[in-house]
Amino acid sequence: AAIEKGGYDHFMLKEVFEQPQTIFDSLRGRLDAKAGQLTLGGLREHMDLLKDANRIIIVACGTSWHAGLVAEYMIEELCRIPVEVEYASEFRYRNPVVGKGDVIIAVSQSGETADTLVAMESAKEKGAIILGVCNVVGSSIARLSNGGVYTHAGPEIGVASTKAFTAQLAVLCLIGLKIAEAKGTITAQRFQHLLDELEGVPDKVAIALKLNDQTKAIANKYKDARDFLYLGRGYNFPIALEGALKLKEISYIHAEGYPAAEMKHGPIALVDENLPVVFVATKDRYYDKVVSNIQEIKARKGKVIAVITEGDQIISGMADDVIVVPEADELVAPIISVIPLQLLAYHIGVLKGLDVDKPRNLAKSVTVE
Ligand code: G6P
Repeated sequence: AAIEKGGYDHFMLKEVFEQPQTIFDSLRGRLDAKAGQLTLGGLREHMDLLKDANRIIIVACGTSWHAGLVAEYMIEELCRIPVEVEYASEFRYRNPVVGKGDVIIAVSQSGETADTLVAMESAKEKGAIILGVCNVVGSSIARLSNGGVYTHAGPEIGVASTKAFTAQLAVLCLIGLKIAEAKGTITAQRFQHLLDELEGVPDKVAIALKLNDQTKAIANKYKDARDFLYLGRGYNFPIALEGALKLKEISYIHAEGYPAAEMKHGPIALVDENLPVVFVATKDRYYDKVVSNIQEIKARKGKVIAVITEGDQIISGMADDVIVVPEADELVAPIISVIPLQLLAYHIGVLKGLDVDKPRNLAKSVTVE
């Protein structure tokens, strides 16, 4: 087992550290930034339908659902197509309005999640086109799909998903860009810029991984907290959800992710000197708003841990702890900003002496209802 873990203490840590390579693998043969080209073979015959889609509905569960939420922001922005993100378990039972002209994208690491599979089947019967974004080649969801794109992150052993998530984000971004290119909803300049940005992600993730020791020190400081709040806006809002989910799964600490502004409608009542609040606060169009949200937490004596962009003097002067990640376009920033949150959850779990690779009560893939 020690050999399988490649020298790491746990599969989870190994998989977190594999991400520069796995993200590269998810882009390989698809993205050619130098040539300004994007090739997605699994979408080719569906491009006309995608271009003219009335609506894209993303169905998924768990971490894959969070990737779907990021994709909603990406695809609406890039392609101007309305996107809905559905929990597969809810979608399948509520007789949803879906049919011809709708495109379903099922996102699933395992490709075997029962709810996601059934949700797709019923949408397919009603005439929707079904695409899969799966990690496991030949899985049930992949086989049921009319087309799709594999994430190619390699086998994921840790029950809490890490490298599959970042590969999903990379692939969903490619899909958004491909549709935008075909629809003409993106300028040539922005298209090229985003290809370049995506190509740069693996190196930036490698830089973010250098924060491992620092993140461990932060984990040590906050490991005894009873609750955590995770906040973010825009593309980083789903990352706040994912950070909170990782912490719950791995450390059994209660954590909530929230859109930073929505925090005023409830969670702010929980803020006191015992509550660590993790802000995903990289430089993007929401930055100034997030700075005010941090002030609101500090005014109530909450402890602020902030993931920020390099060179940010403002938040570093306000937060109790900062984790500095490389600058990136806001569309790809989530792929980088989630890295320290994975590490934070991992270290808190390990410091608490828990089995981070096999958290209690959780299954790697939920193949029954
Ligand atoms: C389980 C796993 C999660 C995963 C979710 C969806 O809950 O523990 O890590 O995100 O299922 O799985 P899928 O294979 O469909 O992505």
